[in-house]
Amino acid sequence: MNITIIGTGYVGLVTGACFSEIGHSVTCYDIDKSKIQNLKKGKVPFFEPNLKDFVNKNIISKNLSFSSSINTALKNRFIFICVDTPDDGKGKPNLTNLNNVIDAIASKLSQDSIIIFKSTVPVGTNKIMQNRLRDKVNGKFNIDVISNPEFLREGSAINDFMRPDRIIIGADNPKSSRKLANLYKPLSRKMDKMFFTSLNSAELIKYASNSFLATKISFINEIAEIAESFDADINDIRLGMGLDQRIGKDFLYAGLGYGGSCFPKDINALINAQKISKSTSLIVDATKKRNTLALENFEKKILKHCKGNKKKKSLTIWGLSFKPNTDDIRESLAVKLITKLHKKFCNIYCYDPEAGKNVKYFFRNYQNIKIISNPYQNISNSNALVICTEWKEFWNPNYEKLSMLKDNLIFDGRNILDKDDLKKYKLNYYGVGTKSVES
Ligand code: UGA
Repeated sequence: MNITIIGTGYVGLVTGACFSEIGHSVTCYDIDKSKIQNLKKGKVPFFEPNLKDFVNKNIISKNLSFSSSINTALKNRFIFICVDTPDDGKGKPNLTNLNNVIDAIASKLSQDSIIIFKSTVPVGTNKIMQNRLRDKVNGKFNIDVISNPEFLREGSAINDFMRPDRIIIGADNPKSSRKLANLYKPLSRKMDKMFFTSLNSAELIKYASNSFLATKISFINEIAEIAESFDADINDIRLGMGLDQRIGKDFLYAGLGYGGSCFPKDINALINAQKISKSTSLIVDATKKRNTLALENFEKKILKHCKGNKKKKSLTIWGLSFKPNTDDIRESLAVKLITKLHKKFCNIYCYDPEAGKNVKYFFRNYQNIKIISNPYQNISNSNALVICTEWKEFWNPNYEKLSMLKDNLIFDGRNILDKDDLKKYKLNYYGVGTKSVES
């Protein structure tokens, strides 16, 4: 099938590359001409495991092409909208890019089309856009809009696309829904993963799913606080709870809280939808507050245990991206923490396997925030180590090198280190919801 993807950001590029991998002929369109030029050469603008290989392989096989011409893009019947809908700073998704795309499509469409929204949009938006497009083409062509939310996690997006748990298809016209379902057929062979519903329900499934996962995280962080004061261990509590299949053990890792471009934005958007619909926000609002508190509690722990004049003390921070396997620092808890700590401490040495460049740019105007290219560089000049993201390379660190930390202090915001190892090296350890080690 011939498919167009509008917007070659994280969702669009993964979707385009994966559809081309399963045999469709995909054109990816973006308004950003230099991005398209680079993509034509196989240059992917962000880090996502295996994405570059998929892109290059399918460029060569001619299943994947890139264009900045809207006329070329609209030659295909299936048009996926994957533009970003960032928080507008007031808790609402900013739909400027989306509106621009819809206007551009509406003025150029020249055939029957199925417009599929992957962008996360406020409940009711798909319907509004469908009416707008139909009004503009004035009966000349059939236009159906479908809400097909994405459930890709950064860092494992390719795998999530190729092995989906579910494919949500929200539409008014069942004929168009079936046509879209056909595109996904190779991913739904063993078990039927398709779920057909209305436009509004599909939109709300996306917000409810992200908010529910965020709520699980905030819940476990709330329990972590109690666990800490009773010397119980949140890692055991997670496993003990997770053995009940109704609860499950995923998304119950305590830590600094959730970040990224999705959960914080979608929680805000859901709270906003609750305001608009005059429904009551208790749980979703509490999830957001607890997430802020998780980071505040962790910061307090660092300030409490780093004794003495902090202006003479330095910290090493490991893990800057909002989660492992990505260079994305949007709503990164590490970045938020550094923003607070650098005002109180002397130097902050920051290390990340992929996100160093982005953080360097983000803090370009701050002299005391330095990006290091090796996790142990400057370790003997640091008083404490703070772990913010659980990249695999941090799980079994070189303890001999860590014992050079001036105050022998480790703050583990993701509970990944082994306490027995720490004791051997006389390191003091503070995790989240777990007993501290004080030598
Ligand atoms: C999330 C959802 O998991 C995807 O299903 C969804 O498609 C995507 O948002 C989206 O809306 O586009 P993502 O933001 O990539 O994906 O990352 P997650 O793996 O969900 O992690 C989000 C945050 O929660 C991270 O900061 C992570 O460190 C944190 N987290 C996750 C925890 O603190 N504890 C956990 O147990 C799990």
